[in-house]
Amino acid sequence: MNLSNNTVLITGGASGIGLALAVRFQQAGGTVIVVGRRADKLAKAAQQHPGLHTHVADVATAADRVALAAWVMAEFPGLNVLVNNAGVQNRVSFADLAADWDSRRQEIAINLEAPLHLSALLAPHLGQQPGAAIVNVTSGLAFVPVAGLPIYCATKAAMHSVTLSLRQQLLPTGVQVVEIVLPAVDTDLGGPGLHTHGVPLDAFADAVMARVAAGELEVSYASSEKGRLASRAEAEAAFKQINNR
Ligand SMILES: NC(=O)c1ccc[n+]([C@@H]2O[C@H](COP(=O)([O-])OP(=O)(O)OC[C@H]3O[C@@H](n4cnc5c(N)ncnc54)[C@H](OP(=O)(O)O)[C@@H]3O)[C@@H](O)[C@H]2O)c1
Repeated sequence: MNLSNNTVLITGGASGIGLALAVRFQQAGGTVIVVGRRADKLAKAAQQHPGLHTHVADVATAADRVALAAWVMAEFPGLNVLVNNAGVQNRVSFADLAADWDSRRQEIAINLEAPLHLSALLAPHLGQQPGAAIVNVTSGLAFVPVAGLPIYCATKAAMHSVTLSLRQQLLPTGVQVVEIVLPAVDTDLGGPGLHTHGVPLDAFADAVMARVAAGELEVSYASSEKGRLASRAEAEAAFKQINNR
């Protein structure tokens, strides 16, 4: 994928991974629009990174996704890259799941419905643009789940599958579909302080963007590289290890 001079929409781009990717697309001459729910976070990101465009939307709702797609195509007709990055991660016990179903479904809406729907809404437009791409942000937990994060891991496994299907369906349009398979990275995912064991954000972002620029369609890093490439037996051993069995 050519990283230079793109017009890029990044969901969840005001913090963490999304912001790190936004900065790198900007440095490569791109026009970057970041989306999130918190206006104060977006304003802070724009202040710290002059030229960054921001938009408030909740990608969990279909109406916001439709409005976001219409807005971005009207305001930025050169849009040629969608980065499906927004995500949440919640600890979930099956013992409590039924009682709390409506809020639990939010994780599915944000992590799975949103990238599916936004990709479908924007693919026809992207197909008309040079150098177009959709970048999906998934996780090594797609391949080796943590049992305490059952919805999260399932949404990431589903997004790995969606990526393969979308890549195949969009072949005739020339839109590349890229997957970045993350290891634990030091961000605020799940709440501040919960991912300090992760790899440093900047080193991770520099490494994966270099591999994306070199043309790799599925890029992982550190522990997620092991998970992504594991045999069935290796994945089962890793599952036991990370779930303390
Ligand atoms: N950090 C890791 O260890 C790790 C590992 C594997 C995969 N990932 C993936 O990386 C992606 C980014 O996560 P991160 O680590 O950078 O965590 P983060 O800093 O918490 O970023 C998540 C972003 O998503 C946005 N977001 C969440 N729900 C949204 C919604 N309904 N509508 C619009 N925006 C929404 C958040 O902004 P608002 O709250 O303001 O909306 C926030 O900017 C996620 O898909 C995550 O699953 C992270």
